[in-house]
Amino acid sequence: MVRFTEKYKKEKINLLISYIKNKKEFSEIEDEFIAELLYNKINDKDLIKIAEHSKPEKSKEFKKSLKLIRKILHEVHGVFNIGKNRVKLLKELENEIEKSDIINEKIKNIHLELLKTHKSTIERINNYEMIYNKIFSILTPESILDLSSGLNPISFPWMNLDKVDYIATELNDNDVKFLNKYFSLMRKFRLNGKAINMNLLKIKKLPKTDICFIFKTLDSLETLKRGATKDILSKIKSKIIVISFPTKTLSGKNLSKRRLAWFNRLISDYSTFEIENEIFYIVNKTKLY
Ligand SMILES: C[S@@+](CC[C@H](N)C(=O)[O-])C[C@H]1O[C@@H](n2cnc3c(N)ncnc32)[C@H](O)[C@@H]1O
Repeated sequence: MVRFTEKYKKEKINLLISYIKNKKEFSEIEDEFIAELLYNKINDKDLIKIAEHSKPEKSKEFKKSLKLIRKILHEVHGVFNIGKNRVKLLKELENEIEKSDIINEKIKNIHLELLKTHKSTIERINNYEMIYNKIFSILTPESILDLSSGLNPISFPWMNLDKVDYIATELNDNDVKFLNKYFSLMRKFRLNGKAINMNLLKIKKLPKTDICFIFKTLDSLETLKRGATKDILSKIKSKIIVISFPTKTLSGKNLSKRRLAWFNRLISDYSTFEIENEIFYIVNKTKLY
C-alpha cells in the first residue's frame, strides 16, 4: 500500500494538472490556479485511489477528476475568447486613431469587431448604449473599476463619457496585455486606462472608484468557492456596484433567476434591469448586508 504523504499527494495533483493542460483551451492557465481547484474539489479518498493505482492515469477516479475539473474550467475560464484576429484589428484601430481627433464611425466599427471576439461582449453588443444610459443616469463616473473585465472596456465609445479613469482586472494574462495596448491607443480620447492581472479569489486590496462593474462572473466564482461573492463585495470601495448575471447558458438554454436567491440575500438597496441574455443589478454599496 502506498503511503499517502503530502509529497505523494502533490505528485498526483501535478499529474492531473499536466493532463488538464494538455487541452489547448487550458494550456495557459497557471498551475497554481488549477492546483487550488483540485485541492478544493477532489477529495482525499479519490486521490488515494489514484495514488494506489498501478497506472494512476488509467484509474476511474483520475478520469472522473479530470472530467470534473475540465468542466469547471470550461465554464469559468476557457470559452470566452472567440476571435483570432484581435491583433490585426488593434493595428487597424491604431492607424485610424492616428488620422482622427474624434471617435468616428470607422473607429467605432473596429471597436464593434473587437467586441465580437469575446463571448460576453458579443452578446450585449446591441445593448451597450442602453446599458450605460441606465447606469450613468444614477451617477456619471469619473472613475471605473471593471473586475474580471474580459474585453468590456472596449465598449468605451458607448459610455459617452468625456473623460474617465478606468482600471480593468483580469485573470487571463493575454487579455491584460491586450487591454493595456488598447488603453495606450485610447489615451488620445481621454480614456485613462490600466489593466492588471488579478485572481478575484485572492484579492488583497482594490482601488477606490466611483463605480465598479462585475459582469457575468460571480456565478462561476461562487461555484469555485462558496462565499467568494461576499468576500469580493466587502473589499470594493466604490459607491455603486453594477453586477450582472447571465439569464441563458452559453448554449442558449434559459437559466432560472431563482438560482440567484443566494445573491439577493447579500444586497438590500438595489434596482435591476434586463437585456435579452443578462440581468443587471445596480447596488448601493453603502447598503450591503
Ligand atoms: C463570462 S466572462 C465575463 C467577462 C466580462 N466581465 C464581461 O461580462 O464582458 C468571465 C471572466 O472571468 C474571468 N475569471 C475567471 N475566473 C476568475 C478568477 N478567479 N479571478 C478573476 N477573473 C476570473 C475569466 O477570465 C473571464 O474573462
